[in-house]
Amino acid sequence: MPEVLKAGRGLELRPLSPGDAKALYALVDANRERLRRWLPWPDGNRSAADSRAYILRMRALREAGLGQSFGLWWKDRLVGVAGFNWIDGVNLNAAIGYWLAQEAEGQGLMSAAVAALLKHGFRTLGLHRIEIRAAVRNRRSRAIPKRLGFRHEGTLRQAERLGSRYVDHAVYGLLASEWRAR
Ligand SMILES: CC(C)(COP(=O)(O)OP(=O)(O)OC[C@H]1O[C@@H](n2cnc3c(N)ncnc32)[C@H](O)[C@@H]1OP(=O)(O)O)[C@@H](O)C(=O)NCCC(=O)NCCS
Repeated sequence: MPEVLKAGRGLELRPLSPGDAKALYALVDANRERLRRWLPWPDGNRSAADSRAYILRMRALREAGLGQSFGLWWKDRLVGVAGFNWIDGVNLNAAIGYWLAQEAEGQGLMSAAVAALLKHGFRTLGLHRIEIRAAVRNRRSRAIPKRLGFRHEGTLRQAERLGSRYVDHAVYGLLASEWRAR
C-alpha cells in the first residue's frame, strides 16, 4: 500500500486509486470553469473514464518513480489533488502541482498539503530541489510557494497554453538545504 501523508487538521494525502474515479470526475466537473482558467487539462476531462485513465497514468508514473499524485481527503471528502507532476531521479529534482475545490479554498489546506509534500520529497524521496511553477497572474497559486519559503527564480515566457492564450510562468525553487535550515 503506497504511503498516506498526514498534513494535519484532518487533511490526508492518499494516492488515488481507480475506485476514486467517480468522485474525482464529479469534483473536476463541479469546478471545471475555475480550473480551466489556470490549468490546461479540464477541457480534455469529460467523463469518469477520463478521470480513471488519469489515475492509471499516475499510478504507472508512481511505479516508475517518475511522479506521485495524491488525492486530498478532508473530513473524509475528496477536495483536490496535489503531488509531484514529475520526478527527475538523476538530478533529484521534482515539480509540485495542485488544485483545490472551491469550497475548500481559503483555509490553508493546500499550503498544508504542499508542506507535507516537501517533507515527503526531501526526507523520504531524498530530493535535492523542488520547484513550483504558476502563471504570473495566478495570485493564489503563487502565494503558496511564497508562504512556504521558496525563492522566486525567474520567469518562463509563454510556457503554458491555456485555451487560445499563452501565459508566462513564475518559477519558484526550494533546495533541501534551505528546507532543513527553516
Ligand atoms: C491555487 C489554489 C490551490 C490555492 O488555494 P488556496 O485556498 O488559496 O490556498 P491554501 O489552501 O493554501 O489557502 C490559503 C488561503 O487560506 C488562508 N488561510 C487560512 N488559514 C490558513 C492557514 N492556517 N495557513 C495558511 N493559510 C491560511 C490564507 O490567508 C489564504 O487566503 P487569502 O488568499 O484569502 O489570503 C486554488 O486557488 C486553486 O485550486 N486554483 C485553481 C487551480 C490552480 O490555479 N492550480 C495551480 C496551477 S499552478
